Amino acid sequence: MVCRLLRPRNISRSAFPPRRAGGPAARRGHNTGMSDLYEIHRPPTPPRLPGSVVLRPDADTVIDALAADLLIHAHNCVRTFGDFHLALSGGSTPVGLYQRLMIDPGYRDLPWTRTHLWIVDERRVPFDDEKSNFKMISEIIGDHSGIPREQVHPIFAMAPDADEQYQRTLRETLGWRERGHDRLDFVLLGMGADGHTASLFPGSPALIESLADIRAGGVTPETALVRINAGPTVTPPDRVTMMLPLINAARFVAVQVVGAGKRSMIQKIVAAQDDPDMAVKLPVLGVRPVGGELRWYLDHDACPGAQLPSDRSPR
Ligand code: 6PG
Repeated sequence: MVCRLLRPRNISRSAFPPRRAGGPAARRGHNTGMSDLYEIHRPPTPPRLPGSVVLRPDADTVIDALAADLLIHAHNCVRTFGDFHLALSGGSTPVGLYQRLMIDPGYRDLPWTRTHLWIVDERRVPFDDEKSNFKMISEIIGDHSGIPREQVHPIFAMAPDADEQYQRTLRETLGWRERGHDRLDFVLLGMGADGHTASLFPGSPALIESLADIRAGGVTPETALVRINAGPTVTPPDRVTMMLPLINAARFVAVQVVGAGKRSMIQKIVAAQDDPDMAVKLPVLGVRPVGGELRWYLDHDACPGAQLPSDRSPR
């Protein structure tokens, strides 16, 4: 089944713009002539967020940092456990990272043959729909990575029991690992301008259940790991999503946030992070790995307090 879904598509170099040489200003396509010498921008201070913060000048250098950490974690996990369980998000933010992993020779030795690829959340659409996260991820990474097809785990989002199916696959597959290793190794999340992460939207049923389960003590054999999420606060179409107890059990959770459109939400998260009741309004605040590490990857545009160069206005 999976084989049929991984539709190979040639990735030609021309499909991706070559990385420009030079510093961040050159990458953004700025005129790097004399006038730049007089435009002095104070680098922003990394905001205080739960976990650690990696702050880079632009989206491209954020990818550098994130891809380097991913590579290290993948190798460490394979060395320690024999395999690597990676869960990837959809949305537009991680597309550049996925492309970089495929085309930059520096990342070609990511141990794909020992990697299991999971999907953090999925829209309830067929696999050939443009809104399908699996379509995007498998077209970029899929066959090009050399990952064995049986190690690619799509969410069969159109199935009436899509959440139970995926939860079963997770429990069975991770259950084969030794006790203590039965968790995801690396979860990549994005964040919406409304503070949602995965498909856990503000005030939505899956978020409320997730937060209640966290209060009850985390992952037990009964805890929901995956849920169908729908309702007035869920941006259509309906979703299937990993739940917070599963995400929070991971060894490493990376949250990639770039662009000035996310800046005011980062500001809100900074202000609300010590209030445990705020996660129902700002879902990303519910991401608090229990034994693992949480790391944010931000660019200057997303960073509160950063000076925007005079020639750019918030996107
Ligand atoms: C998805 C995601 C979702 C995403 C945010 C940010 O499937 O859309 O998993 O949580 O990360 O909506 O989306 P952008 O990267 O497009 O801003």
